[in-house]
Amino acid sequence: MTYLEQHQSSINDPETFWKEHANDIAWFTSPTNILSKDKNDVTRWFADGELNTAYLALDYHVDNGRADQAALIYDSPITTTVKTYTYRQLRDEVAVAAGAMSRLGIKQGDRVLIYMPMVPEAVITMLACARIGAIHSVVFGGFAAKEVATRIDDATPKLLITASCGIETDRVIEYKPIVDKALGMAQHKVEHCVVLQRPEHPCTLNDKDLDWLEFVADAVPADCIPLKATDPLYILYTSGTTGQPKGVVRDNGGHAVALKYSMKAIYNVEPGDVFWAASDVGWVVGHSYIVYAPLLAGCTTILYEGKPIGTPDAGAFWRVIEQHKVKVIFSAPTAFRAIKKTDPEGKHFAKYDVSCLQSTFLAGERTDPPTYHWLAGLLEKPVIDHWWQTETGWSIVANMTGIEHLPVKAGSSSVPVVGFDVKIMGPEGNLKNAGEVGEIVVKQPLPPGCFPTIWNDPKRYQQTYMSIYPGYYLTGDGGYIDNDGYVFVMGRTDDVINVAGHRFSTGEMEELIASHTSVAECAVIGINDSLKGQIPLALIVLKDGITDNGTIGDEIVQMARRDIGAVACLRTVITAERLPKTRSGKILRKTMRSIADRETYTVPSTIDDPVILDEIQQLFDEQLVTQ
Ligand code: COA
Ligand code: AMP
Repeated sequence: MTYLEQHQSSINDPETFWKEHANDIAWFTSPTNILSKDKNDVTRWFADGELNTAYLALDYHVDNGRADQAALIYDSPITTTVKTYTYRQLRDEVAVAAGAMSRLGIKQGDRVLIYMPMVPEAVITMLACARIGAIHSVVFGGFAAKEVATRIDDATPKLLITASCGIETDRVIEYKPIVDKALGMAQHKVEHCVVLQRPEHPCTLNDKDLDWLEFVADAVPADCIPLKATDPLYILYTSGTTGQPKGVVRDNGGHAVALKYSMKAIYNVEPGDVFWAASDVGWVVGHSYIVYAPLLAGCTTILYEGKPIGTPDAGAFWRVIEQHKVKVIFSAPTAFRAIKKTDPEGKHFAKYDVSCLQSTFLAGERTDPPTYHWLAGLLEKPVIDHWWQTETGWSIVANMTGIEHLPVKAGSSSVPVVGFDVKIMGPEGNLKNAGEVGEIVVKQPLPPGCFPTIWNDPKRYQQTYMSIYPGYYLTGDGGYIDNDGYVFVMGRTDDVINVAGHRFSTGEMEELIASHTSVAECAVIGINDSLKGQIPLALIVLKDGITDNGTIGDEIVQMARRDIGAVACLRTVITAERLPKTRSGKILRKTMRSIADRETYTVPSTIDDPVILDEIQQLFDEQLVTQ
């Protein structure tokens, strides 16, 4: 079937389409109820099916001829380590870790919070949870203690698993003080804390802490238990528009079916191929395409603890591709922008043989045409932008190279993925025509793999995503579809920004800045950055009688590093006399963003005092370094 035929059949008769693809995984009990609604009126896939995701990712392959094939290659230039786990070895380590969790009293449905760097034990812990039906919640290692505490209070885990440290290019990040602070801040009391001691920086354990080695010592390997397709596999927090992150819930059945399908249909890889998602297990890309999908598909996955540049140089990605015979690499455009900036002529690239590479996939932010052209020219292989979100767990728009490799249009992430009925919506709930810009929505039902709820907050799920345009899922991105059906994603329509492919809430940053004793009001906007795509810029207005002696901006930068994490990159704070607003008092963030990005803009008719825009323009001219 062509792409169009597959897409149409998935939209016209989703039940038949996904019933067929559900047969591609080894269920314990095959589903007969393919598409149904739960008590909250939410679409559920395969409700009466039973399976175990860790079984499908590991044991199934061990039992079916892949026991000695590499399942995971840990490549850590930062610690000069390369270690390969076969499917059998990984299954055995996961079974022991699962047994160790059971010994601590962790049962099906209990939450386990994982705060770890890119080490194999992070993957082992995730799969161990899946094995016994515990629900993991991985928190990206770059988040600060307060963010960890918020997630502890929402997910209420019984167990927290961490490591003594993470390692950045230029320094060791001690994890234990962050975890201890988070545990102290959280209302919820975690019963057990397991710490993986890394030789690069071991830490002192408290009485209640358990060393990873003690944790797994003599544990009886645990078997995979049958779970309902609709049972949660994990919770992954993502930024919304407020300081309270949203716990995106992923189920077991729909997730396994969708991800297995995606490996061939989108990425065109076969069992035995080497697949490398150069991301972090703390993000959705890491969950889906470092851990679950490649293993579900019987591929070899790479766990890379390093950066695109600096570990040791801009040839790092090409070295990994050559050394491990990577067939498909998936990373964020920002990673390639960093390589391009450091090695524009591809001198490092020329040292490696990357003939094994079939294609490069990019996501996390829009691929800007200059980066696309540079990379496609260098590699002389397909470079494919695809658009997706934590909420969906796999891509909504992509070039489905395993079905039909469509021509690439720079600036577009190609066409709606099979299963996703993508439309453009106007503010009045009117569907837009080709070429017209609006909100990108997806007609319900969403295909398997997408989130069925927000942890602890089904109401927020409905209000934020499902009920604004009844019958459609609101993605939060804006854009248009051209006459050929190609989707152009133009950016968020809410207060979410993407910094180096990582998602942050400007609303959360504003809440934090507003708590500074000298700040009367503030606005945070995402402005263009030639390396990271977007970076936050804070504008503050000081309280009457306060004069800035030059330290307030620095204090705010430090607050953001302390409470959110350095990775949010809030480094620019500008003091203004006043902020531009509408007559009803709404701050004109979008207009300020256009000014900062030196785009043409129209002065909103609702503006209270247009002179303030001139003041802002002058401040930006004086204080923003031209990109
Ligand atoms: N733990 C602790 N701190 C972390 C961290 C982690 N896991 N990841 C990043 N940080 C810190 C960094 O040390 C840095 O701190 P600093 O301000 O004190 O220097 C800050 O957060 C910003 O880090 P980073 O975004 O990595 O910026 P950089 O300037 O050091 O590197 C790039 C730039 C482009 C190389 C880097 O952003 C990158 O590798 N991007 C790719 C991201 C990616 O793969 N995204 C995938 C999503 S699909
Ligand atoms: P996250 O949930 O962290 O994966 O971030 C999802 C958001 O990143 C989306 O809503 C988009 O705003 C942005 N995004 C991801 N991939 C792309 C892409 N290929 N093109 C444009 N924006 C993207």
